[in-house]
Amino acid sequence: MNHTDHVNLLRGGIPAPGGVWDDFGSGTGAFTLALAELLGPDAEIYSIDQDRGSLRTQARAMQSHFPHTTVHYRTANFTQPFDDLPPLDGLVVANALHFQKYAAQASVVQQLKSYLRPEGHFIVVEYGVDRGNHWVPYPLSYRSWKKLAYTCGFTHTQLLAERPSRFLHTIYAAVSW
Ligand SMILES: C[S@@+](CC[C@H](N)C(=O)[O-])C[C@H]1O[C@@H](n2cnc3c(N)ncnc32)[C@H](O)[C@@H]1O
Repeated sequence: MNHTDHVNLLRGGIPAPGGVWDDFGSGTGAFTLALAELLGPDAEIYSIDQDRGSLRTQARAMQSHFPHTTVHYRTANFTQPFDDLPPLDGLVVANALHFQKYAAQASVVQQLKSYLRPEGHFIVVEYGVDRGNHWVPYPLSYRSWKKLAYTCGFTHTQLLAERPSRFLHTIYAAVSW
């Protein structure tokens, strides 16, 4: 997938440009860069990953493609509470929830949800399967995400886009609010 694919996966989940968004488990920034494009230069983005090297690579790409976007990089484990994030208009967790054991996913989602404003948008990008492998241990299909989102208190969930994946079946993006 390229930058256009990342943008197209998220596009329908972004209600308006600007605002404060967070990309949890942002890695080298595939979806942070997509957020920067979709939200425009007035947005403020928090980009959190436990891998400092990935964030450094990401910061270079951001500087070269979206130099006017404000991005706060944090090297941290997103399952630990953050008490200094501003209320978020939206968040993305892309290809990162599947590292949490199934039994832990609800509490992680609830914690991330607690950072959102009441009408904030929670975008998940995941593989469309419910059985993992060594690299993608605990993926959840759209159907499973919809159930989990409901359990976590989201009243609306919508599939944004789905693409075939050469790694694992399909990759989809969904938004809950
Ligand atoms: C498969 S990569 C996905 C990166 C990016 N979101 C994307 O879709 O291209 C997973 C990323 O999540 C990060 N990650 C996984 N669990 C994390 C956690 N608990 N806290 C912070 N980062 C985490 C990893 O360091 C890695 O950079």
